[in-house]
Amino acid sequence: MISSWTGMLKSSCTDGCASLDSSFGASTVQVKAIRSNMSDSSRTVPQEQLPSDDLHPRPMPVINLGHLSLDSATRSGVVDDIAKACRDFGYFQVINHGISQSIMDTAVEAATGFFKLPSETKEAFTSDDLRQPVRYDTSSKDSISMSRAFLKHYAHPLSDWVQYWPQQPPIYRKYMGSYSVEVRRVALQLMEAILEGLGLNKEYLQEKFQDGLQLLSVNSYPKVSHGDTTIGLAPHSDYGFLTILLTSCQGLEVLDRSSDSWKTVQQLPHALHVHIGDHMEVLSNGRIKTVVHRAILNPEEARISIASIHGFAPNEKVACAEELVDEQNPQKYRESSFSDFLDHLMANMDNKHRNFLESLSVRTKEDN
Ligand code: OGA
Ligand code: NI
Repeated sequence: MISSWTGMLKSSCTDGCASLDSSFGASTVQVKAIRSNMSDSSRTVPQEQLPSDDLHPRPMPVINLGHLSLDSATRSGVVDDIAKACRDFGYFQVINHGISQSIMDTAVEAATGFFKLPSETKEAFTSDDLRQPVRYDTSSKDSISMSRAFLKHYAHPLSDWVQYWPQQPPIYRKYMGSYSVEVRRVALQLMEAILEGLGLNKEYLQEKFQDGLQLLSVNSYPKVSHGDTTIGLAPHSDYGFLTILLTSCQGLEVLDRSSDSWKTVQQLPHALHVHIGDHMEVLSNGRIKTVVHRAILNPEEARISIASIHGFAPNEKVACAEELVDEQNPQKYRESSFSDFLDHLMANMDNKHRNFLESLSVRTKEDN
């Protein structure tokens, strides 16, 4: 059951930013391109003119994850609530997820420590090769990161990847490692519930999730002066099944599909934000949709966010679940892997219209 609801804050940000991403983990999205799948009449409204929905705000779902492990009736109530949140919103927050506040705090501390290092130390991780196990970059080189520095690295299995992670600050590997193991546990729990909510057996593909990829995108955004509308991270969707985001303060915005407006994700104490990625839309054959999101800068403080992105192993293809394809619901997407996603990004580096999900779309006779 959805245990509580948050209200909405008005977004004051106007956004003229580009919608490119040259970094792995995120799929480029032009808001209009995503809307081309939608039937509403607003598909031609430029994103910077999207209204903010502060008159009739839709509450944001909050899921009490601890209830998943209670008796079966309570569990099915939570599964239904997650299914509804996925279907109607594509995002929700989780509370009572079992990750201690100190593990969350120390992960943020490790990230903060890394970004405080001298530029030369951080730049040792800079690479144009998207397949490097660890990559650091800043806004000057990455066209989606309007004002963002990031460190991206794989995290599962930890013993394979931790050797590539920064050794500075000395706490980095330990603290980021503990958080990544914990957040992956939450992701697997959620995947199981989402599959159940889709009517798929919860063991469905479980092995592939167990062996799946976890990518951490550790982001740093500067504080902005009041009145400045600079964007931190341009609108995009993430490629994987789901992303779990931990942030040090407010700044994430999601595009609400029912009102076509940006919603500020409020900081609930001890909550994590979850959103659906491109591969979940593929797996569910469009029943659950990916979410366009962006980060704006916070006028009060510099901001750290840690996005944990979950998918199959790099070469494992994700296809529409057979059980969700029939005459009424023909296959919407062709299969693809994370590796295909990276190829897609690299082949479209300078192309503003390189939406990954759209590139997978199977056109039906009616579309043509
Ligand atoms: C990302 C992302 C949002 C944020 O890393 O893909 O969307 O608030 N981050 O930093
Ligand atoms: Ni993202």
